[in-house]
Amino acid sequence: MTKQKILMCAPDFFGVDYVINPWMNEGLHKTNSLHARSQWANLKRFLEQHAELKFVEPQKGLPDMVFTANAGMVLGSTVIVSRFHSEQRRGEESPFKKWFEANGFTIAPWPTDIEFEGAGDALFDRGKNFVWTGHGFRSSEKAAGVIESIFKRQAVQVKLVDPRWYHLDTCLCPLPDGYVMYYPAAFDEASQKKIADHVPEEKRIVIGEEDALKFACNAVDVDGIIILNDASTELQDRLRRIGLTPIITSLAEFMKSGGSAKCLTLKLIES
Ligand code: ARG
Repeated sequence: MTKQKILMCAPDFFGVDYVINPWMNEGLHKTNSLHARSQWANLKRFLEQHAELKFVEPQKGLPDMVFTANAGMVLGSTVIVSRFHSEQRRGEESPFKKWFEANGFTIAPWPTDIEFEGAGDALFDRGKNFVWTGHGFRSSEKAAGVIESIFKRQAVQVKLVDPRWYHLDTCLCPLPDGYVMYYPAAFDEASQKKIADHVPEEKRIVIGEEDALKFACNAVDVDGIIILNDASTELQDRLRRIGLTPIITSLAEFMKSGGSAKCLTLKLIES
């Protein structure tokens, strides 16, 4: 199996400087940069044992650039660079685009009037050939159709209804062999049914509110390990039973911004 490549961005300018999701209300101006640096370094240390890491230069004034999941959506050598919903994050579009260009990616044309926050709201299913797309808070409902026409891959669109789980990757995590870990209450009823229709019951890992609030779904799995900010022992056991080794590492500083392990990474090898 080819080694995964993962894009990260050091938290040099990370902070909660504005509020664009409910977590940031509490976290506003309350991050500790030393703690953020060491938590991010721990995540990096675990990941570099399993993947090749790439880094995009952090930019002053762009505190959320650490969340590289929102840089874009990659498939093969093509990338859709995000079109951010909030004004506060639009400045990230250009440095992310430059990084992708400099690293050999072809930038897919994207309509500027359609908001789309990359791998925060578009997740490849790991069992079947489709992509889960989320809308409701950040990415536009229209993003799915454009993704389908660019990547020629079916999009299964789901709607987010609770502002605490504003990106799809905060409440749904596709796992190897077609397993899907998710928090049902973050979705409207029609979407809960859609998930059930696409994932057989034995492959559904339904989590409760307590784990969801720890951002357990915002997990990054690579090469048999799965890194989570926190998770109940039940959930960790469940993950072990499907062949994954959970690694718990606190990302509490990033939780103040509404982000965790998965948000801090972008897989660059997707097929
Ligand atoms: N503060 C950031 C925001 O609200 C957090 C982004 C988290 N990223 C993610 N992929 N869920 O945009």
